[in-house]
Amino acid sequence: MSISAGRAALLPDATLPLVYFAGAHVALALAAGLLLVDPDLPGAFHYHPRMIAVVHLVTLGWISASILGAFYIVAPLAFGMPFAARRADALACVSFWSGTVGMVLGFWWAAYAVVGVASLAVLAAVAIVAVRAIRGLRAARMPFGVSLHIALAFANVLLAGSAGLLMALGRGWGVATWSPLAAAAAHAHLAVLGWGVMMVVGVSYRLVPMFLPAAMPTGRALAWSAVLLEIGTLGIAWALLTAQTVAPWALVVVAAFVAFLRQVRGILGDRRPRPKDLHGRDWSTWQTHAAMLYLVIAVALGLWIVLAASSPALVWAYGVTGILGFVAQMVVGIQGRLLPMHAWYRELARLEGTPPARSAHRLADGRATLTIFLTWAVAVPLLTGGLIGQSPATIATAAGLLLASSVVQAWHMARIARGARSPA
Ligand code: HEM
Repeated sequence: MSISAGRAALLPDATLPLVYFAGAHVALALAAGLLLVDPDLPGAFHYHPRMIAVVHLVTLGWISASILGAFYIVAPLAFGMPFAARRADALACVSFWSGTVGMVLGFWWAAYAVVGVASLAVLAAVAIVAVRAIRGLRAARMPFGVSLHIALAFANVLLAGSAGLLMALGRGWGVATWSPLAAAAAHAHLAVLGWGVMMVVGVSYRLVPMFLPAAMPTGRALAWSAVLLEIGTLGIAWALLTAQTVAPWALVVVAAFVAFLRQVRGILGDRRPRPKDLHGRDWSTWQTHAAMLYLVIAVALGLWIVLAASSPALVWAYGVTGILGFVAQMVVGIQGRLLPMHAWYRELARLEGTPPARSAHRLADGRATLTIFLTWAVAVPLLTGGLIGQSPATIATAAGLLLASSVVQAWHMARIARGARSPA
């Protein structure tokens, strides 16, 4: 059998997504390993260089690298948009990882000039993927509302990263104009909400119906969550930077989540028959449900901080539930569903169009996905409690669990890739 040119153009790249994912697992394991070896590292207050190094291992290393790698799978398979990895994409991947290593080391040594210079490599890499993605979206037959989320997500990460570059150079050469703490908080919200959350919401509109399965949502209303999230995120970042009231903008972000959840309710109400090969519970999807629970908790904590009173304990809880409980865990769940699909299409390409004997729904190992789900289910609340209560033993236990999970996740990824080659 041979593959038509049109179909071949919509096959995901065989290697590049896995390279991003492999690096992402190393970064997550390293972040967890550092906390396991030195559970006193976080201390009472989050804002210090070594903690920020750990934060970027998670936010850049785990979350952003996973998003970039996943984009090479999601674009062709879920957006119907050719996105073959070319030489520039391979170079971008190398640039992303060298820059991330440089940034993390720079933070670790509190050498902000190093952070600034290294961040240029990260920004260049993201810009290459972003330009290709935004160009491709114009040609893809996707609802405008979904494309808007993706385009804004890329624009936001470039904005947040450029702001981070200026902050780092400002600190490195002692020319900071804004309060460094306020600037860091503004940058963090722009990156986490504008990039991580915007991307998760946008791709969910295509992936949730694919995974369930259900009918694809359409219509202009899909744009609401993008518009509200963008306005709310920019408003929060500006208000944090200029020490103005954050509350109205936080409410706009809440409205964005309401718009998103309304769409998800619509998707759930228009189900299609479940594939016969998909047996038992799908723990990766359950992990995305757990992540959604953390979204609700993080929003509640954020509103509490804004409307009532803030304290270091509340900020720890807000940061861990928002970044680790919601965004990082959502990435784990989505990756758990994307990997079998990727492995199946990779095998299809290798067999030149002959469908692989083993169904994509039979590639994941239920015991591994359950272990990953349970480990995160215990580790996230434990880490939150350990940071709030300043308990090194609890922090070390949570970190040990996350380290174990990252090892199981990486092993499972390799197993899925190999499994697609085995008989039915
Ligand atoms: C090129 C990309 C990036 C650069 C140059 C950068 C730079 C920075 C800098 C300079 C700080 C403040 C450090 C300090 O004042 O000591 C910071 C903090 C932070 N960044 Fe980034 N960053 C980047 C990407 C990201 C991304 C993609 C995310 C999230 C998805 C993120 C999340 C955070 C968080 C959560 C903090 C900590 C804020 C706090 O502790 O108050 N960063 N970053």
